[in-house]
Amino acid sequence: MKKIPVIISLGLVVFVLYSCNPKMYTPTASSVTGSVTLENLTEGRNLYVSKCGECHRLHKASQYSSSEWKHNVDKMQKKAHITDSQKELVYQYLIAAPGKKKL
Ligand code: HEC
Repeated sequence: MKKIPVIISLGLVVFVLYSCNPKMYTPTASSVTGSVTLENLTEGRNLYVSKCGECHRLHKASQYSSSEWKHNVDKMQKKAHITDSQKELVYQYLIAAPGKKKL
């Protein structure tokens, strides 16, 4: 019966790690719409995870509508030192998220 505390603490560790670092969705073929390719979305995800998590936690893609993301990504471009085309990839990734508010 000594194992139970160990299992509980492991569960807690996993829970804490998960809650500080919400898992960002990974794009699949079904996320692809219009002229955006799966490669674009995957690159956008990589940029988002590597460039946008330095100063604050990563915001979930579903947290903002498309127009709110546009505004936020424009505002953050300078801080993240990304080019216009990188910014566009990040934006496309964010707005292609499942369950996201449109507009
Ligand atoms: C150099 C640090 C830094 C980097 C890199 C950075 N941010 Fe931010 N971010 C901030 C700060 C500081 C704030 C809060 C103040 C503000 O709104 O300017 C913020 C706020 C935000 C908000 C909330 C805005 C709001 O008005 O509620 C979002 C969303 C966001 N960042 C997204 C991003 C994205 C996307 C990237 C990558 C392109 C990024 N951030 C990169 C520093 C950073």
